[in-house]
Amino acid sequence: MQPHRHLVNLALIGFMGTGKTSVGRVVADSLHFDFLDTDEMTQSRTNRTIADIFAQDGEPAFRALERQVVDELAKREKTVIATGGGLPVNPDNLAALKSHALVVCLWSSPERIWERVRYQSHRPLLHDPDPQKKIRDLLAAREPFYKQADVLINTDLRSAREVAQQIELQFKLATRK
Ligand code: S3P
Repeated sequence: MQPHRHLVNLALIGFMGTGKTSVGRVVADSLHFDFLDTDEMTQSRTNRTIADIFAQDGEPAFRALERQVVDELAKREKTVIATGGGLPVNPDNLAALKSHALVVCLWSSPERIWERVRYQSHRPLLHDPDPQKKIRDLLAAREPFYKQADVLINTDLRSAREVAQQIELQFKLATRK
């Protein structure tokens, strides 16, 4: 662990449908931390849905808003932060998160991700003629970024409760004095 890191928050990164939001809420409850979700922050700052931002302004505009939200997070303490799936692809985002948060990546296989997202329609990147291929391709392209997390947890093999417990344990180990 680098000495200049001030680990007062916990950030969850990982692909869409790996459980960042649901697990993040459980962890926040159990640690008595606040919970924030970067997609919800972007939506409330703009009063628009992510789907609207993608459709009207395009993905680069969404990524710029996401970048601003990440900068705001540096002021937080005792917060579990669930992040949008594409956020760590920008190295500045990951570096900013790492300065104040232990970064945990939730990892799933493309098959498991598909099972979780197939009946949901709010993610513009999966509005694709072949969403399963899109998941495989995006996951492969993003793997090197996700693997820069401090901790990697495979969620295929664990219940949400077990994933949450693992995260809490890792946070306690990383922050013990
Ligand atoms: C995205 C993931 C979404 C949201 C946006 C783009 C991505 O968040 O930020 O639709 O690039 O993977 P979730 O991972 O919470 O679904």
